[in-house]
Amino acid sequence: MTTTNQLLKNKKGIIFGALDERSLGWQAALKIKACGGNFVLTNTAVALRLGEIQHLAEKCQSQVIQTDATNTEELANLFEEAQNILGGKIDFILHSIGMSPNVRKQRPYGDLNYDWFLKTLDISALSFHKILQTAEKQDVMNEWGSILALSYIAAQRTFPDYSDMAEAKAMLESIARSYGYRFAKHKKVRVNTLSQSPTPTTAGNGVPGFDKFYTYAQKMSPLGNASVEDCANYIAVMFSDLTRMVTMQNLMHDGGFSSTGITDEILEAL
Ligand SMILES: NC(=O)c1ccc[n+]([C@@H]2O[C@H](COP(=O)([O-])OP(=O)(O)OC[C@H]3O[C@@H](n4cnc5c(N)ncnc54)[C@H](O)[C@@H]3O)[C@@H](O)[C@H]2O)c1
Repeated sequence: MTTTNQLLKNKKGIIFGALDERSLGWQAALKIKACGGNFVLTNTAVALRLGEIQHLAEKCQSQVIQTDATNTEELANLFEEAQNILGGKIDFILHSIGMSPNVRKQRPYGDLNYDWFLKTLDISALSFHKILQTAEKQDVMNEWGSILALSYIAAQRTFPDYSDMAEAKAMLESIARSYGYRFAKHKKVRVNTLSQSPTPTTAGNGVPGFDKFYTYAQKMSPLGNASVEDCANYIAVMFSDLTRMVTMQNLMHDGGFSSTGITDEILEAL
């Protein structure tokens, strides 16, 4: 890959959740590499079996380590191995992980399976705390490092078909605030969430009625929906030294959706 700029020169990191070309984590990896950053890619055994992540690893001269982000032993091993591979402590971590068995199996919000609900929370939110806590305990972060997770506006407003993922995103954003305080004091590391527009990925398309969701947001956003490439650009900036004092924030990356009451396009459509 050709390097387009040096924004992330000498930065080392870990990227969770690149599944295929459409993934937010996948495009973020390509952008980070183009900006001069190096990283280890990680995903679950199931995702690795699909095999696509190996193509990304080749493009990025990167290695892939299998990790279930809900398993703290596997996380501890990941951090150990990543530091060996990258030759030192870590500057950035991207949490691009989400999954709800209730959404996947289309259980109505009034008839949730609570074992699955706990799984949703564990995979989509608690895993972020596990990553942060393991990183702190093993002292893997360099000072002024940056840790980011991807969120969605259903944490603040109700989108009925988003189901228990809304609770997971609310928890995810809360963890970023709480751990952001701790990591800032402890190591000057910043922790944020980036709240992205609907984006046609495997996780995105798994939400019932996603196409309509996407079109509505497109009409409701003065700039239109933020694309996967736009998201990758923002992530690169958040991992750079240009954002050293941004922490404990939920950063809206949605073309203005979250501040808009109504638009001409919606009025015309009614
Ligand atoms: N696509 C959207 O519309 C949208 C909008 C806002 C936020 N997000 C968030 O962006 C993030 C990335 O999702 P995406 O849209 O790129 O979809 P995606 O399906 O490409 O990525 C989700 C990833 O989570 C991984 N994952 C699932 N369980 C895991 C576990 N136990 N351990 C480690 N990894 C696990 C999957 O293997 C997959 O790589 C998610 O947090 C999602 O909620 C997506």
